[in-house]
Amino acid sequence: MKLFDVYPLFDIEPVKGLDCFVWDNNGTKYLDLYGGHAVISIGHAHPHYVERMSSQISKLGFYSNSVQNSLQEQLAEKLGEMSGYPDYSLFLCNSGAEANENALKLASFHTGRSKVIAFRKAFHGRTSAAVEATDNQSIIAPINRNNHVTFVDGEDIVMVEQLLQAGDVAAVIIEGIVGIGGIFEPSAGFLQALREMCTKYNVVLILDEIQSGYGRSGKFFAHQYAGIKPDIISVAKGMGNGFPIGGILISPQFPAKYGMLGTTFGGNHLACAAGLAVLEVMEKENLTENAAQVGEKWMKDLATVPGLKEIRGKGLMIGLEFTKPIKALRHSLLFTEKIFTGVSGSNVVRLLPPLTLTHDLAAIFTTAVIKTLEK
Ligand SMILES: Cc1ncc(COP(=O)(O)O)c(C=O)c1O
Repeated sequence: MKLFDVYPLFDIEPVKGLDCFVWDNNGTKYLDLYGGHAVISIGHAHPHYVERMSSQISKLGFYSNSVQNSLQEQLAEKLGEMSGYPDYSLFLCNSGAEANENALKLASFHTGRSKVIAFRKAFHGRTSAAVEATDNQSIIAPINRNNHVTFVDGEDIVMVEQLLQAGDVAAVIIEGIVGIGGIFEPSAGFLQALREMCTKYNVVLILDEIQSGYGRSGKFFAHQYAGIKPDIISVAKGMGNGFPIGGILISPQFPAKYGMLGTTFGGNHLACAAGLAVLEVMEKENLTENAAQVGEKWMKDLATVPGLKEIRGKGLMIGLEFTKPIKALRHSLLFTEKIFTGVSGSNVVRLLPPLTLTHDLAAIFTTAVIKTLEK
């Protein structure tokens, strides 16, 4: 059997990782500023993570959600405390799309409505409601085109209010910082206005922090820069440092009911061990603060890179928009400088390294990108 060929692949096979580096099957070492797409939060093969995961799998990797699993409670407790949401509750699932799917579903159950407001450039995942709220027609299949979602351009709060006045909107969903769309931060004023509108019209505000959450922005959640509290927050990616786990943080106003949400694998023992290990390392090594500090200096240094149109982002979620396409630049960075980076569209390099990145490692990239562009 062959693989279903949906991914354009670089001809590199990483076989080993340690902190901010990966090695391919020829022993070549790469600096990982992509983190497997914002997934590697505490660094590859972190010793505490390896120990916690190995110890858990040697005892019990999985049992179903029909029995007690105190690891889930420990994870919820620790996440509530570290994220600043101790009074919210946690529903665990396996991926980002699934987290948003459950967030939208819960909003719909709660309000009895079915319409959603999303934003241009948004990416929320590839499943049913999540993909409908994703601004990319090419990944929305006919079966997902159900006219639930209206996309609002930019920060048009007037249009948001007009849509909310119709009385059929269940949720507004927005990324803490737009990731795949090219690293765009919503302004604090816009998030505050959305919060106010959603409260006024009794609509659920969902913050998708799947890419921008878990310390990446320099705060636990990017929306915390705006000082607002959403009704539901979706998380995944960095939550498990590579082990598939996602979840939604749910405000106390939502009553839970047996059977309302559910999953076979969500919240399994190994996933919880991964989730706990990540939070323990983040806390012990002050990784959110590190992301803020390293990112701030890095963005200043990156301003000297030639050919830049704009630098956007916060913490270790950085977008470098160039005036010209960056395909050749990325290729040279990977194959000559041995540095993994991410991309958005044709002109934006995305930097999403592990949150353990040091100033020195950041400087390696700055030097390499300047050298490559000056060639
Ligand atoms: C903001 C955001 N939401 C949702 C998703 C979907 O996550 P997953 O690929 O785990 O389903 C992603 C993935 O890149 C994302 O960046």
